[in-house]
Amino acid sequence: VIFKDSNKASVIVAQEIANLIKKKEKLGEKCVLGLATGSSPIKVYEELVRMHKEEGLSFKNVVTFNLDEYYPMQKTNTQSYWYFMHEHLFNHIDILPENINIPNGEIPSNEIYQFCIDYEMKIKEAGGLDFQLLGIGRTGHIGFNEPGSHFNSGTRNITLDHITRIDAAPAFLGIDNVPKVAITMGISTIRRAKRIVLLAWGINKAAVVQKAIEGEVTSEIPSSYLQHHDNVTFVLDEGASEEL
Ligand code: GLP
Repeated sequence: VIFKDSNKASVIVAQEIANLIKKKEKLGEKCVLGLATGSSPIKVYEELVRMHKEEGLSFKNVVTFNLDEYYPMQKTNTQSYWYFMHEHLFNHIDILPENINIPNGEIPSNEIYQFCIDYEMKIKEAGGLDFQLLGIGRTGHIGFNEPGSHFNSGTRNITLDHITRIDAAPAFLGIDNVPKVAITMGISTIRRAKRIVLLAWGINKAAVVQKAIEGEVTSEIPSSYLQHHDNVTFVLDEGASEEL
């Protein structure tokens, strides 16, 4: 779906999430959301916060799983995805802290493997992801599933692509400060979500969006795997759709 304005598009995506939360609440079920970081979903979070404050949308019934986190990374570090999510969403809504799940960038490296197994298990026990929000990186990554990621990959640690580190450099005040590793949900984790919405704004994303939607399905563009999902929408602005 192509929108003139990414703000309007974000409001519509937030509305879909709000409707799902309300529907699940009526059914007496938890709503399990997979959440993304980066600049693309910021307006969606802003709108969800607005709906909480002005319309009483409650997140008491919501469980969240974030896609990824840099490793190593302290939660209190302003570049952490933990910090980002609290700053843009969690600090402003009534979600229960125990229902927030974000890959932990603080654990010792010999505990990552078990952490990833437990993260997968937690998603499963929560009933799976009802909705997964995604952005897309210039390498074609979703979460931090860089080129080469397997269709059946689960949550794991991954070496970041050089292009991804270049794109993250301004936030870290230089590429030397950008972590080389991250913990990310896998392609398989994402694929099992019942509904997926990917956001891409601006001409910088046009080339990779074209490859993801119209190119062959390949591990070189991990977002192209989404072509095999039966309930996915790419929400684009005019810039991001330029090469379709
Ligand atoms: C990071 C995140 C991705 C995100 C991507 C794009 O690499 N790990 O989940 O999709 O950035 O970020 P932006 O939305 O700022 O373009």
